[in-house]
Amino acid sequence: MSLKDQLDLQRLPRHIAVIMDGNGRWAKERGQDRLYGHHEGVESVRNVVEACAELGVGYLTLYAFSTENWDRPMYEVNGIMELLVNTIRKEVATLSKNNIRLHVIGDMDMLPGNARQEMEEAMSITEENTGLNLVMALSYSARWEIVRAAQNIAKDTRDGKLRPEDVTPEVWEKYLCTAKIPDPELMIRTSGECRISNFLLYQLAYAELYFTNTRWPDFRKENLYEAILNFQTRERRFGKTSDQIQQNEEIVS
Ligand code: IPE
Ligand code: IPE
Ligand code: MG
Repeated sequence: MSLKDQLDLQRLPRHIAVIMDGNGRWAKERGQDRLYGHHEGVESVRNVVEACAELGVGYLTLYAFSTENWDRPMYEVNGIMELLVNTIRKEVATLSKNNIRLHVIGDMDMLPGNARQEMEEAMSITEENTGLNLVMALSYSARWEIVRAAQNIAKDTRDGKLRPEDVTPEVWEKYLCTAKIPDPELMIRTSGECRISNFLLYQLAYAELYFTNTRWPDFRKENLYEAILNFQTRERRFGKTSDQIQQNEEIVS
């Protein structure tokens, strides 16, 4: 039986988030420039987006560029931005054809004008689509997002739009970039690093974490199925006991 056939389609993660890591090392291992790794990583993006759309996963968030990545050598940053513009331009028709809606989270003001424009156009072209929600985390960092949310809450409180006691978890979440997006249930990081690197710190509170040594440019649909199968073996307890979870499952089934 193929890995795909082993998946329980009733228990798919509603939202999968991926830290696409290892492009640079993948290229270096082949005696190539780091940018070659970023280019090859685009094929992995296509594969994983297609797999999620086929399976019926609701949300896929891809961490493409962090706030901290702006500090890389200018040559690499420019290369990544150029790749981003070209890829979005090329892929927007395929996204539309497959009913995929594009969202972007992150500090869009930091992006070069043409990259921002390309992203805004692609979001508007795909905004009526009702299939997979593809969320690109671009110039994103969780600390930036959290501090921005705190600033906006402070402003709204000062302006009388909000009282301090109104700030519940539900209200707080509306101030994050991911308002209206459910929390990730599965977070995958490629390339062997076991850290979060400033990604969705609030939203990952109860995500199942999956780390694989596979470098991002080698990641394909089968690797995604493997991660989902692993997710499906886990008991998610949310602070309760195992007995409580099992009793609840018996009642539901
Ligand atoms: C991930 O791959 C892509 C970005 C961060 C833009 P890296 O470029 O971090 O590759 P490694 O981790 O150096 O191998
Ligand atoms: C995290 O990878 C950011 C992205 C994948 C876009 P990094 O390669 O930047 O993270 P660190 O520096 O290894 O923590
Ligand atoms: Mg890296």
